[in-house]
Amino acid sequence: MDVLIAGGHGQIARRLIRILARNGHTARGLIRNPDHVADLEADGGHPVLCDLEHDDLRPHIGGAEAIVFAAGAGPGSGPERKQTVDLGAAVKCIEAAQALGVDRFVIVSSIGTQDAEHAGPMRAYLEAKAAADDALRTSGLSWTIVKPGMLTDEPGSGTVDIATAFGRRDAVSRDNVALVLYHVLLADNTIRTEFELFDGPTPADVAVQSLQRGDGPVTVL
Ligand SMILES: NC(=O)c1ccc[n+]([C@@H]2O[C@H](COP(=O)([O-])OP(=O)(O)OC[C@H]3O[C@@H](n4cnc5c(N)ncnc54)[C@H](OP(=O)(O)O)[C@@H]3O)[C@@H](O)[C@H]2O)c1
Repeated sequence: MDVLIAGGHGQIARRLIRILARNGHTARGLIRNPDHVADLEADGGHPVLCDLEHDDLRPHIGGAEAIVFAAGAGPGSGPERKQTVDLGAAVKCIEAAQALGVDRFVIVSSIGTQDAEHAGPMRAYLEAKAAADDALRTSGLSWTIVKPGMLTDEPGSGTVDIATAFGRRDAVSRDNVALVLYHVLLADNTIRTEFELFDGPTPADVAVQSLQRGDGPVTVL
Protein backbone atom coordinates (compact mmCIF):
# COMPACT_ATOMS: atom_id res chain seq x y z
CA MET A 1 0.00 0.00 0.00
CA ASP A 2 1.15 3.54 -0.80
CA VAL A 3 0.18 5.82 2.09
CA LEU A 4 0.60 9.58 2.13
CA ILE A 5 0.81 11.07 5.61
CA ALA A 6 0.12 14.77 6.07
CA GLY A 7 2.21 16.18 8.90
CA GLY A 8 4.88 13.58 8.12
CA HIS A 9 7.37 14.75 10.74
CA GLY A 10 4.81 14.71 13.54
CA GLN A 11 5.33 12.40 16.48
CA ILE A 12 2.47 10.04 15.57
CA ALA A 13 3.24 10.28 11.86
CA ARG A 14 6.86 9.22 12.30
CA ARG A 15 5.80 6.21 14.33
CA LEU A 16 3.25 5.25 11.65
CA ILE A 17 5.83 5.68 8.88
CA ARG A 18 8.20 3.32 10.71
CA ILE A 19 5.46 0.67 11.10
CA LEU A 20 4.39 0.95 7.45
CA ALA A 21 7.98 0.77 6.20
CA ARG A 22 8.77 -2.24 8.44
CA ASN A 23 5.79 -4.07 6.96
CA GLY A 24 6.74 -3.47 3.35
CA HIS A 25 4.45 -0.55 2.55
CA THR A 26 5.36 2.75 0.92
CA ALA A 27 5.01 5.59 3.41
CA ARG A 28 5.33 9.12 2.08
CA GLY A 29 5.39 11.96 4.55
CA LEU A 30 4.34 15.48 3.62
CA ILE A 31 6.71 17.88 5.40
CA ARG A 32 7.29 21.61 5.10
CA ASN A 33 10.79 21.80 6.54
CA PRO A 34 13.68 20.46 4.41
CA ASP A 35 15.65 19.88 7.62
CA HIS A 36 13.24 17.00 8.34
CA VAL A 37 14.13 15.02 5.19
CA ALA A 38 16.91 13.01 6.84
CA ASP A 39 14.68 11.98 9.77
CA LEU A 40 11.99 10.67 7.44
CA GLU A 41 14.50 8.75 5.35
CA ALA A 42 15.97 7.23 8.53
CA ASP A 43 12.40 6.12 9.44
CA GLY A 44 12.13 4.32 6.09
CA GLY A 45 9.74 6.91 4.67
CA HIS A 46 9.81 9.04 1.55
CA PRO A 47 9.75 12.77 2.25
CA VAL A 48 7.52 14.99 0.12
CA LEU A 49 8.08 18.72 0.56
CA CYS A 50 4.81 20.64 0.72
CA ASP A 51 3.54 23.33 3.08
CA LEU A 52 -0.04 22.34 3.79
CA GLU A 53 -1.10 25.92 4.48
CA HIS A 54 0.48 27.60 1.48
CA ASP A 55 1.15 25.10 -1.34
CA ASP A 56 -1.05 23.33 -3.84
CA LEU A 57 -1.22 19.78 -2.56
CA ARG A 58 -2.45 18.10 -5.72
CA PRO A 59 0.93 17.72 -7.48
CA HIS A 60 2.23 15.89 -4.39
CA ILE A 61 -0.40 13.16 -4.08
CA GLY A 62 1.43 10.83 -6.49
CA GLY A 63 0.18 7.26 -6.46
CA ALA A 64 -1.31 7.41 -2.97
CA GLU A 65 -3.87 4.70 -2.19
CA ALA A 66 -4.67 6.22 1.19
CA ILE A 67 -4.13 9.54 2.96
CA VAL A 68 -3.68 9.92 6.71
CA PHE A 69 -4.10 13.42 8.10
CA ALA A 70 -1.85 13.62 11.18
CA ALA A 71 -0.82 17.28 10.96
CA GLY A 72 -1.65 19.83 13.60
CA ALA A 73 -0.95 23.42 14.50
CA GLY A 74 0.31 22.32 17.90
CA PRO A 75 -0.31 23.56 21.45
CA GLY A 76 1.77 26.75 21.08
CA SER A 77 -0.34 28.12 18.21
CA GLY A 78 -3.18 30.65 18.26
CA PRO A 79 -6.75 30.33 16.92
CA GLU A 80 -5.68 31.47 13.45
CA ARG A 81 -3.48 28.43 12.87
CA LYS A 82 -6.18 26.12 14.23
CA GLN A 83 -8.20 27.41 11.27
CA THR A 84 -5.39 27.16 8.68
CA VAL A 85 -3.92 23.80 9.81
CA ASP A 86 -6.32 21.76 11.95
CA LEU A 87 -9.25 22.73 9.71
CA GLY A 88 -7.85 24.31 6.53
CA ALA A 89 -5.07 21.83 5.81
CA ALA A 90 -7.40 18.92 6.54
CA VAL A 91 -9.99 20.26 4.09
CA LYS A 92 -7.25 20.83 1.52
CA CYS A 93 -6.17 17.19 1.85
CA ILE A 94 -9.78 15.99 1.59
CA GLU A 95 -10.35 18.08 -1.56
CA ALA A 96 -7.11 16.84 -3.11
CA ALA A 97 -8.16 13.25 -2.36
CA GLN A 98 -11.53 13.88 -4.04
CA ALA A 99 -9.94 15.57 -7.05
CA LEU A 100 -7.38 12.83 -7.62
CA GLY A 101 -9.53 9.83 -6.75
CA VAL A 102 -7.79 8.74 -3.55
CA ASP A 103 -10.75 7.11 -1.87
CA ARG A 104 -9.33 6.06 1.51
CA PHE A 105 -8.87 8.83 4.09
CA VAL A 106 -8.06 8.49 7.78
CA ILE A 107 -7.98 11.55 10.03
CA VAL A 108 -6.38 11.93 13.44
CA SER A 109 -9.06 13.89 15.26
CA SER A 110 -9.42 14.27 19.04
CA ILE A 111 -11.64 13.44 21.97
CA GLY A 112 -13.87 16.33 23.05
CA THR A 113 -15.02 17.58 19.64
CA GLN A 114 -18.67 16.87 20.47
CA ASP A 115 -18.51 19.37 23.34
CA ALA A 116 -16.19 22.00 21.85
CA GLU A 117 -18.21 25.03 22.95
CA HIS A 118 -17.63 24.15 26.62
CA ALA A 119 -13.92 23.44 26.22
CA GLY A 120 -12.56 26.80 27.44
CA PRO A 121 -9.06 27.38 26.07
CA MET A 122 -9.36 24.27 23.88
CA ARG A 123 -12.47 25.59 22.14
CA ALA A 124 -10.82 26.99 18.99
CA TYR A 125 -8.83 23.79 18.53
CA LEU A 126 -11.76 21.45 19.10
CA GLU A 127 -14.10 23.48 16.88
CA ALA A 128 -11.54 23.30 14.08
CA LYS A 129 -11.16 19.53 14.57
CA ALA A 130 -14.96 19.08 14.66
CA ALA A 131 -15.34 21.02 11.41
CA ALA A 132 -12.62 18.95 9.76
CA ASP A 133 -14.39 15.75 10.89
CA ASP A 134 -17.67 17.09 9.43
CA ALA A 135 -15.96 17.85 6.12
CA LEU A 136 -14.62 14.31 5.96
CA ARG A 137 -17.94 12.68 6.95
CA THR A 138 -19.68 14.44 4.08
CA SER A 139 -16.84 14.03 1.56
CA GLY A 140 -18.03 10.83 -0.08
CA LEU A 141 -14.60 9.31 0.62
CA SER A 142 -14.03 6.05 2.48
CA TRP A 143 -13.26 7.70 5.78
CA THR A 144 -12.27 6.74 9.30
CA ILE A 145 -12.15 9.27 12.15
CA VAL A 146 -9.75 8.29 14.95
CA LYS A 147 -10.15 10.34 18.13
CA PRO A 148 -7.25 9.77 20.52
CA GLY A 149 -7.39 10.69 24.18
CA MET A 150 -4.58 12.70 25.80
CA LEU A 151 -1.38 11.74 24.01
CA THR A 152 1.60 10.40 25.95
CA ASP A 153 5.08 9.26 25.06
CA GLU A 154 4.81 6.09 27.15
CA PRO A 155 6.16 3.02 25.37
CA GLY A 156 3.35 1.39 23.40
CA SER A 157 1.63 -1.50 25.13
CA GLY A 158 0.13 -2.68 21.83
CA THR A 159 -3.20 -2.93 23.65
CA VAL A 160 -5.98 -0.36 23.52
CA ASP A 161 -9.59 0.45 24.20
CA ILE A 162 -11.72 1.62 21.31
CA ALA A 163 -14.90 3.45 22.34
CA THR A 164 -17.84 4.37 20.16
CA ALA A 165 -19.71 5.98 23.08
CA PHE A 166 -18.00 9.34 23.39
CA GLY A 167 -17.09 11.37 26.45
CA ARG A 168 -14.20 9.69 28.29
CA ARG A 169 -11.09 11.65 29.31
CA ASP A 170 -8.24 9.13 29.40
CA ALA A 171 -4.81 8.86 27.82
CA VAL A 172 -3.27 6.91 24.97
CA SER A 173 0.34 6.56 23.93
CA ARG A 174 1.42 7.87 20.54
CA ASP A 175 2.87 4.39 19.90
CA ASN A 176 -0.56 2.86 20.35
CA VAL A 177 -2.22 5.50 18.16
CA ALA A 178 0.23 4.81 15.34
CA LEU A 179 -0.35 1.06 15.65
CA VAL A 180 -4.12 1.50 15.50
CA LEU A 181 -3.80 3.78 12.45
CA TYR A 182 -1.79 1.06 10.76
CA HIS A 183 -4.42 -1.59 11.45
CA VAL A 184 -7.19 0.80 10.38
CA LEU A 185 -5.51 1.23 7.00
CA LEU A 186 -5.62 -2.54 6.52
CA ALA A 187 -9.21 -3.04 7.68
CA ASP A 188 -12.12 -2.12 5.42
CA ASN A 189 -14.57 -2.70 8.29
CA THR A 190 -13.32 0.63 9.69
CA ILE A 191 -14.64 2.57 6.69
CA ARG A 192 -17.29 5.08 7.85
CA THR A 193 -16.50 4.49 11.52
CA GLU A 194 -15.41 6.96 14.17
CA PHE A 195 -14.11 6.06 17.56
CA GLU A 196 -12.28 7.34 20.61
CA LEU A 197 -9.00 5.65 21.41
CA PHE A 198 -7.34 5.01 24.78
CA ASP A 199 -4.76 2.69 26.22
CA GLY A 200 -6.55 -0.45 27.31
CA PRO A 201 -6.58 -4.23 27.44
CA THR A 202 -7.33 -5.30 23.85
CA PRO A 203 -4.66 -6.02 21.22
CA ALA A 204 -4.79 -3.20 18.65
CA ASP A 205 -5.60 -5.44 15.68
CA VAL A 206 -8.41 -7.21 17.58
CA ALA A 207 -9.89 -3.89 18.71
CA VAL A 208 -9.84 -2.54 15.15
CA GLN A 209 -11.42 -5.71 13.76
CA SER A 210 -14.30 -5.37 16.23
CA LEU A 211 -15.52 -2.15 14.56
CA GLN A 212 -18.49 -2.23 12.27
CA ARG A 213 -19.33 0.19 9.50
CA GLY A 214 -21.47 2.98 10.96
CA ASP A 215 -20.01 2.71 14.49
CA GLY A 216 -20.02 5.93 16.61
CA PRO A 217 -20.79 8.43 17.85
CA VAL A 218 -23.14 8.05 20.79
CA THR A 219 -22.32 10.91 23.15
CA VAL A 220 -21.94 10.14 26.85
CA LEU A 221 -21.71 13.30 28.96
N1 LIG B 1 -1.90 16.43 22.29
C1 LIG B 1 -2.94 15.66 22.53
O1 LIG B 1 -3.16 15.22 23.68
C2 LIG B 1 -3.86 15.26 21.39
C3 LIG B 1 -4.99 14.52 21.68
C4 LIG B 1 -5.79 14.08 20.63
C5 LIG B 1 -5.46 14.41 19.33
N2 LIG B 1 -4.37 15.17 19.05
C6 LIG B 1 -4.09 15.46 17.62
O2 LIG B 1 -3.08 14.59 17.17
C7 LIG B 1 -2.28 15.28 16.21
C8 LIG B 1 -0.97 14.57 16.02
O3 LIG B 1 -0.26 14.55 17.25
P1 LIG B 1 1.33 14.63 17.26
O4 LIG B 1 1.76 14.59 18.67
O5 LIG B 1 1.87 13.62 16.28
O6 LIG B 1 1.53 16.11 16.67
P2 LIG B 1 2.86 16.88 16.26
O7 LIG B 1 4.06 16.10 16.67
O8 LIG B 1 2.72 18.28 16.75
O9 LIG B 1 2.82 16.86 14.66
C9 LIG B 1 2.10 17.76 13.90
C10 LIG B 1 2.83 17.94 12.59
O10 LIG B 1 2.08 18.81 11.74
C11 LIG B 1 3.00 19.51 10.96
N3 LIG B 1 2.51 20.74 10.35
C12 LIG B 1 2.00 21.83 10.96
N4 LIG B 1 1.74 22.79 10.06
C13 LIG B 1 2.10 22.28 8.84
C14 LIG B 1 2.06 22.78 7.52
N5 LIG B 1 1.61 24.01 7.26
N6 LIG B 1 2.52 22.01 6.52
C15 LIG B 1 2.99 20.77 6.76
N7 LIG B 1 3.05 20.22 8.00
C16 LIG B 1 2.60 20.98 9.03
C17 LIG B 1 4.12 19.85 11.92
O11 LIG B 1 5.28 20.14 11.18
P3 LIG B 1 6.42 21.18 11.67
O12 LIG B 1 7.35 20.36 12.50
O13 LIG B 1 7.03 21.67 10.41
O14 LIG B 1 5.70 22.24 12.47
C18 LIG B 1 4.23 18.57 12.74
O15 LIG B 1 5.20 17.70 12.21
C19 LIG B 1 -2.19 16.67 16.83
O16 LIG B 1 -1.83 17.65 15.92
C20 LIG B 1 -3.60 16.88 17.37
O17 LIG B 1 -4.42 17.46 16.39
C21 LIG B 1 -3.56 15.61 20.06
